[in-house]
Amino acid sequence: MAPTIVPLDTTLGATVTDIDLASMDHATWKCVEDAFHEYAALIFPAQDLSADEQVAFSLRFGKIEHLRADPSVKSVSISNQKPDGSVIGPDDARFKTLRGNEGWHLDSTYMPLAAKAGVLSAKAVPSHGGETELADMRAAYDALDDAMKERIADLRAYHSLYASQAKIGYVVETGSGYGYHTKGAPLRPLVRVHPVTGRKSLCIGRHAYRIDGLDDDAAQGLLDELLEFACQPPRIHIQNWQPGDLIIWDNRCVMHRARPYDFNETRIMQATRIAGDPATDLAPTARDGRASGFKPATTNEIEAPAF
Ligand code: OGA
Ligand code: MN
Repeated sequence: MAPTIVPLDTTLGATVTDIDLASMDHATWKCVEDAFHEYAALIFPAQDLSADEQVAFSLRFGKIEHLRADPSVKSVSISNQKPDGSVIGPDDARFKTLRGNEGWHLDSTYMPLAAKAGVLSAKAVPSHGGETELADMRAAYDALDDAMKERIADLRAYHSLYASQAKIGYVVETGSGYGYHTKGAPLRPLVRVHPVTGRKSLCIGRHAYRIDGLDDDAAQGLLDELLEFACQPPRIHIQNWQPGDLIIWDNRCVMHRARPYDFNETRIMQATRIAGDPATDLAPTARDGRASGFKPATTNEIEAPAF
């Protein structure tokens, strides 16, 4: 039986039911892949996938991006719980990461190779808040007026996790976690073209912090203006989690953020990140098709421009 795919009432996303993600045949997978490209985010209620099953599902989309030094760790827990069951306090390094996740972002744009997609499933959810919001950067680009489209067509921003955490008051040491590297800050076009659909989208978010050719205040002003405009209905989906639900978003054109919640309650999400494709991640977007001077990254181990 083919899965049931029902578009959301927003510019992105569809809910997919009548499907078991742990045992998809090829025809079912093709329906999922097509829907992923069309809707840019898919919601699969009540799947209850184990970590291994979520990794297997994620591998359908591409390689896993390794978020830990140990490459055997393919799925991670986004959680405010300590091993002893108590919840973390503000002095815990993870606290800063969770607070950071509350700002609109694209995953791993601060790495040489940004993520292709993100997969999250809920294991434990707080009684209030803790939703995940998604924002459609394809529809956001389309909705810009022509003057703004013209203004940003050839602009490029640096992306840095140091910079985004600094903006919310955290100074983080190099080497203290994923993303705090010495490879420099990648320079990414504000407008990117989707390698499959050809649709343009805004590549912005909290990690973008400086624009080539603009002074820093003007750059931040423009980035803030674009973000404010982009993340508005009908381009937003708010995922109200039930334990067992799973979502995947296309990180090339969908931003996300966590909604705040009472940190005295436990929230545990199982996360896998799908690695970007080196052939398209930093592909040039110049309007006239000129080579734009980007050197596409082939892995997250290469050198990028200096931070
Ligand atoms: C992430 C993330 C948001 C959430 O895992 O990359 O941003 O709702 N998570 O936990
Ligand atoms: Mn994220």
